[in-house]
Amino acid sequence: MAAPDSVTLVEMGARDGLQNEPRTVPTEVKIALIDRLSATGLTVIEATSFVSPKRVPQLADAADVMEGITRKQGIRYPVLTPNMKGFDAAVAAGADEVAVFGAASETFSRHNINCSITESLERFRPLCEAAAVRGVRVRGYVSCVLGCPYEGDIAPVAVARVARALFDMGCAEISLGDTIGVGTPKRAREMVEAVAAEVPIERLAAHFHDTYGQALANLLAVLELGVRVIDGSVAGLGGCPYAPGASGNVATEDVAYMLHGMGVATGVDLDALVETGWFICDALGREPASKVSRALRAKHG
Ligand code: HMG
Ligand code: MG
Repeated sequence: MAAPDSVTLVEMGARDGLQNEPRTVPTEVKIALIDRLSATGLTVIEATSFVSPKRVPQLADAADVMEGITRKQGIRYPVLTPNMKGFDAAVAAGADEVAVFGAASETFSRHNINCSITESLERFRPLCEAAAVRGVRVRGYVSCVLGCPYEGDIAPVAVARVARALFDMGCAEISLGDTIGVGTPKRAREMVEAVAAEVPIERLAAHFHDTYGQALANLLAVLELGVRVIDGSVAGLGGCPYAPGASGNVATEDVAYMLHGMGVATGVDLDALVETGWFICDALGREPASKVSRALRAKHG
């Protein structure tokens, strides 16, 4: 298959990347991270989550982050909203795009958002209706699309069912999360094929964590099927507090390097992204998980 002309990268570093940090990241550092990301050419930067601060204390400053960032024209800054309370708080903080997050695994759904899959969809429906009235775009996540930390393998049909329900209630895009990064290319392909039978493939995004080092291979497999939106996290930051052992998203730098090498445009300045990855890693006191980032630093100093 010929490579696509372009792919949209959706940056997860400030949300997925920081939600599970063991130590509190100061609000000013989050704001500086997002502002730096805004200068890299990225057009979608997930900023934070309006969730229970008891459940995710790391993102308890969501409203302050939204207040502090400098929003650039042409960039979207979605935020996670699990329910109407989160939606109302997000809109009050000026969010013009939100994301609901469900799962293809019952047990994960209970651990993550404390309700069944069916109940979660019932919560998301009024949120989607309220968003439509206000002209707020809604993204829908499905977690555990290739495996669950509690249930093991997840059937593609279970993913397709939740993706379809989210799409039918008005989600503009469905992001398919390999939350614990266990997938391999064959299973990733089969899962996306099953979902694409229910939701147009141009409305799908791939959200792959890199726990087993398979994320780039899985992305290539689903790019070949026609997926054109890829979630990544600068420096490969992150993990989900309710997915024990999961590592961060695939590093945005590594995805950009792969795509640029294939002649696929992302609009992203790789050097600026690498610098931003080092900025946040210096603040966190660690090295980027991105191999591209480390290789370029070793080469150029
Ligand atoms: P609940 O536990 O069912 O209880 O919450 P509740 O709705 O009865 O509320 C309990 C308390 O939370 C109450 O406060 C509410 O006011 C408060 P209290 O009376 O105890 O003081 N509350 C809220 N506070 C702020 N914002 C809100 C909100 N809602 C309730 N929106 C809930 C359900 C979903 C809120 C909770 O379970 C929760 O916040 N879970 C966190 C889930 C989360 O953020 N997980 C990580 C993100 S998902 C992810 O990373 C996967 C993804 O990356 C894709 C992938 O990789 O697969 C997206
Ligand atoms: Mg995730």
